[in-house]
Amino acid sequence: MKTKRIACIGAGYVGGPTMAVIAMKCPQYQVTVADLSESRIAAWQTDTLPIYEPGLLEVVQAARGRNLCFTTDIAAAIRESEIIFVSVNTPTKTFGEGAGRAADLQYWERVARDILRESRSPKIVIEKSTLPVKTAQTMENILNANGKGIHFEVISNPEFLAEGTAVQDLLEPDRVLIGSRETAEGLKARQEIVDIYANWVPAERILTSNVWSAELSKLVANAFLAQRISSINSISALCEKTEASVREVARAVGMDARVGPRFLNASVGFGGSCFKKDILNLVYICESYGLDEVARYWESVVAMNEYQEQRFVRTMIREMFNTIVGKRIALFGFAFKANTSDTRESPAIYVTRKLLEERANVVITDPKALESARRDLAGNLQEIEFTDDPYQAASGAHAIAVMTEWDLYRSLAWDRIYRSMEKPAFVFDGRNLLDHKRLYEMGFNVYPLGAPPLKHL
Ligand code: NAD
Ligand code: UGA
Repeated sequence: MKTKRIACIGAGYVGGPTMAVIAMKCPQYQVTVADLSESRIAAWQTDTLPIYEPGLLEVVQAARGRNLCFTTDIAAAIRESEIIFVSVNTPTKTFGEGAGRAADLQYWERVARDILRESRSPKIVIEKSTLPVKTAQTMENILNANGKGIHFEVISNPEFLAEGTAVQDLLEPDRVLIGSRETAEGLKARQEIVDIYANWVPAERILTSNVWSAELSKLVANAFLAQRISSINSISALCEKTEASVREVARAVGMDARVGPRFLNASVGFGGSCFKKDILNLVYICESYGLDEVARYWESVVAMNEYQEQRFVRTMIREMFNTIVGKRIALFGFAFKANTSDTRESPAIYVTRKLLEERANVVITDPKALESARRDLAGNLQEIEFTDDPYQAASGAHAIAVMTEWDLYRSLAWDRIYRSMEKPAFVFDGRNLLDHKRLYEMGFNVYPLGAPPLKHL
């Protein structure tokens, strides 16, 4: 007999892996993951999981059928659980008030109403999704206006995992943050959630706070991370003008212990489902409190990212003699980062669209993300070639643009690739992944990010 029953509503990139790790580490809890999507739930029940994450299948297999199950029966999952994590998507609103900035809370609110309708006993409801600060208040208002005499305690437990390293991040998190009301009931509920994580996370890494600090910390953590990337990307532009190398600058700056070395890799731009959305959400919240200067400050992080994407494509066009009409251009990678099949907000989407506008012949290769790429580019499928073979992608190409830092691209037979390409052959390395000097010596014209080009022209 299991002691506690946990439900998670939302079986996506966060809900699935998080619950799999909780189930594996806490055999005394019964964990049910519920979602509206029948295909997603069906996939979680097979060995072809709906998302690609290194090490995830092993974790799922360790707990599935023991104390981890997946279902579309959301009502039953709610009724039978004392603890309900809500991990549904919270995208940027595309309509009405706050369009393009505010979080679209319709999925979250729908779950709140499902919880309200199905519950017959008190529940702890946990915000796992990333939400605007003060959402817990709205949730409490919806849930506790139930007239059934059932008490709901709302807790904020934001998730900090990154895709591609989700399992590792969950097994050994830098910190777990649990925010609650500071009432007797709030503190009791907080402790229940602390008790779950204490099964494998050291006590000093489990942080507790008030519920608003927890909600806001999640938005701020993503804003700070994205800000570092925009900062180094802004400097990459300056390096290209001054013969400084952004890698050398990042190394020198990052060795200051106060700055730290991580998240200082210049790139074609940050992607992923959350950085842009969460910063825009922060901007919107600041504006709604009349903090316009604060809003403009954070908005510039997104503006710099867009500039970096534009700059990358402009360099390609300029360096290829100001026309790319009819030229075959191979994009190496489409995922927004390595080790994931996720392409949400990938800079490769923008780059592809721009290259197509310039009437280039685009060929896309990626080891994991071609299916998503096809979905993202559904309106242009006739114009694009897709292949999982980088050699085929490069064959006959005028240029290669590295979009994703997949390790495998480092160890390709670049001399073979060079021979198969049109000449002059160009490499635009949007991730500073390759050995630029070696490629230059083979005959390539090489364009690193944030360093002078190595060209024979
Ligand atoms: P996702 O789109 O992969 O998954 C969300 C799931 O919720 C989908 O499967 C959808 O079908 C389901 N859903 C939506 N409405 C539902 C409803 N009413 N009932 C049942 N299921 C419903 O999203 P995700 O990437 O897992 O992100 C979820 C939340 O976590 C977001 O708020 C995001 O900002 C946050 N987050 C994401 C990451 C990440 O790396 N992706 C990391 C940290 C936090
Ligand atoms: C990010 C955060 O790292 C997580 O802590 C957070 O939980 C998550 O967002 C979220 O809320 O969704 P994720 O988007 O999965 O995780 O991946 P990151 O590793 O942060 O990379 C984001 C983007 O920045 C990628 O496109 C990546 O290539 C780029 N990046 C990262 C750089 O361009 N340079 C760097 O130095 C680091």
